[in-house]
Amino acid sequence: MINLESLLLELSNAPGPSGFENPVREIMKRELSPFVDSLDTDGMGSLIGIKNGPSSSPNIMLSAHMDEVGLLVRYITDEGFIKFQNLGGWLDQAIIGQRWQILTSKRTVLGITGIKTPHVMSTDERGKVFKGENLFLDVGAQNKEDAENRLGIKPGDPIAPVSYATRLNDSEFILGKAWDDRAGLAVLVGVMESVKDSDLPFNICAVATVQEEIGLRGAHTSSYAVNPDIGLNLESGVAGDYPSISQYEAQEKLGNGPAIFLHDSSMLPNLKLRDFVIDTAKDSDINLQFNVLSGYGQDGAEMQKSFEGAPAINITVPTRYLHSHNSIINIKDVEKAIDLVGQCILQLNLEKIKNLKNFD
Ligand code: CO
Repeated sequence: MINLESLLLELSNAPGPSGFENPVREIMKRELSPFVDSLDTDGMGSLIGIKNGPSSSPNIMLSAHMDEVGLLVRYITDEGFIKFQNLGGWLDQAIIGQRWQILTSKRTVLGITGIKTPHVMSTDERGKVFKGENLFLDVGAQNKEDAENRLGIKPGDPIAPVSYATRLNDSEFILGKAWDDRAGLAVLVGVMESVKDSDLPFNICAVATVQEEIGLRGAHTSSYAVNPDIGLNLESGVAGDYPSISQYEAQEKLGNGPAIFLHDSSMLPNLKLRDFVIDTAKDSDINLQFNVLSGYGQDGAEMQKSFEGAPAINITVPTRYLHSHNSIINIKDVEKAIDLVGQCILQLNLEKIKNLKNFD
């Protein structure tokens, strides 16, 4: 049996900004290989593990993305400070005052995003939001040459948040970075383990995608590599269970089980597939939550739109404080998400797949 907690901690700690997912891919290769018949990467680096069904059977694609929001070195100032480009959707305010690791070809370089000390600010200036274009990383370099030669920093080097995952005060909560979407990757591994001994009448394609945070890029190519008949995307959801966020904005609560998205700005789920997941949750005694988001994008949209199109749905682990150094999930929700997706796979058969794809 996989040790879910240690897998979650390892996945969260691994650095993997969009386009630089290698450390995460290595973990996923190791974790998926016992449960699949083949394991390959596509031309962009997404990892595709297939548990074969009978020949020419349909493809059930499960996906979760390996990348996290990060930064990238834009240039080094003459004084040795690092100006950067955001990778993914950061609030500038979440970038400030944090520790980061620059992943150079030589070594890992620790840096911090400093801001002007409040002692010298006017009252007016104190109330203002700092603009991203004025932010920088301090790596303790003497000057540009020192940053380049001693630390090995080059333009284009990826930068990941530094934040070590831990249980939050002996609760069911786990604190860490990158639950978006390392939580989904843990669900993917757990599901593949749970169905490993089942003879299924279809192929299960377990895909760990790249570059989701900058526009679902890896899911685009991997969906074409797989050609899914049904797509189940495994993601971090959006919790709305803390002060300052409303139920209207996000409905998921930590500890209440997995959720499905009924709307986000990238996709509408297939309604028959929605009902299939609802019924499966009910039959399996798993509490299922719903979420309707005005924004958000996720890899399910690419599965849905590949080739002639496929029924798809996004299944999530509720998460607080996404796209920051410190997000929180509940480990029980991860367990329940594994149960739900595993049950969905065991309940599927050729007739149900045909029916899900039938619009008559
Ligand atoms: Co995500």
